[in-house]
Amino acid sequence: MKNTLLKAIYESGKIILENFGGTFRIESKDSVSNLVTEVDKKSEDAIIQIIIRDFPGHSLLSEEIGAIDSDSGMKWIIDPIDGTINYAHAIPLCCVSIGIEKNKEIVMGAVYNPMSGELFFAEKGQGAFLNDKAISVSEESNFNKSLLVTGFPYNTSKNPNNPVGVFANFLLQDIPIRRLGSAALDICWTACGRFDGFWEYNLNAWDVAAGFLIIKEAGGVVTDFKGEEYSVYKKEILASNGKIHNEMMAVIRSAVKD
Ligand code: IPD
Ligand code: CA
Ligand code: CA
Repeated sequence: MKNTLLKAIYESGKIILENFGGTFRIESKDSVSNLVTEVDKKSEDAIIQIIIRDFPGHSLLSEEIGAIDSDSGMKWIIDPIDGTINYAHAIPLCCVSIGIEKNKEIVMGAVYNPMSGELFFAEKGQGAFLNDKAISVSEESNFNKSLLVTGFPYNTSKNPNNPVGVFANFLLQDIPIRRLGSAALDICWTACGRFDGFWEYNLNAWDVAAGFLIIKEAGGVVTDFKGEEYSVYKKEILASNGKIHNEMMAVIRSAVKD
């Protein structure tokens, strides 16, 4: 499975890189700002062909084509480009993300940014790696010294979960925050200690499936906004080094109604 996963990841990375900064079709999806490019679809096609060739009986859940179900208990959860808006604007900050679920548990995942050549990989119980070097979350326990990262849903203006209020509450604590535009990289960059914590509302399973395992294997903590057990199918994610988790949760909860 690892061979197939890496084959798919690198083939997709090649397509992303070859087309970067070029001319390709860009369309809007459910909202004007939610984009899909021709390259997302090419990347997705290549990934799916590689998986189907090696594991024809496995289920797939992929952002642009949706779900292909089987009763194998195995599911490949695919984001062919995470950070499509960056990609469409020739900003070299995006990745391909693939997580593998076995009997409803993520057991392997990889996130690859072909622009930087960084490959994040984890297998359940085996640790997390950045280009074959073991990674771990940061040691920062002083919330006021932490560096956080987040993203915003495409429907922020209508979102009942008050994402702007949550963001404002962090800013009003004078905490530095970054917004990269790729949730999968946000989680992986927290997993390797560049950031101390990440939160976002309204992500989908393909944004987080691989990153969820990678940060857990790097020693991080992942919950929903109430501190309850996280699943990649939940809409709230709070992922951190564990040491600032409760303080982050308190800030989020002060702006979100139950
Ligand atoms: C998006 C990115 C972004 C997040 C959005 C996602 P896409 O994924 O992960 O950081 O804020 O909510 O939809 O559309 O580029 O695959
Ligand atoms: Ca995504
Ligand atoms: Ca995507």
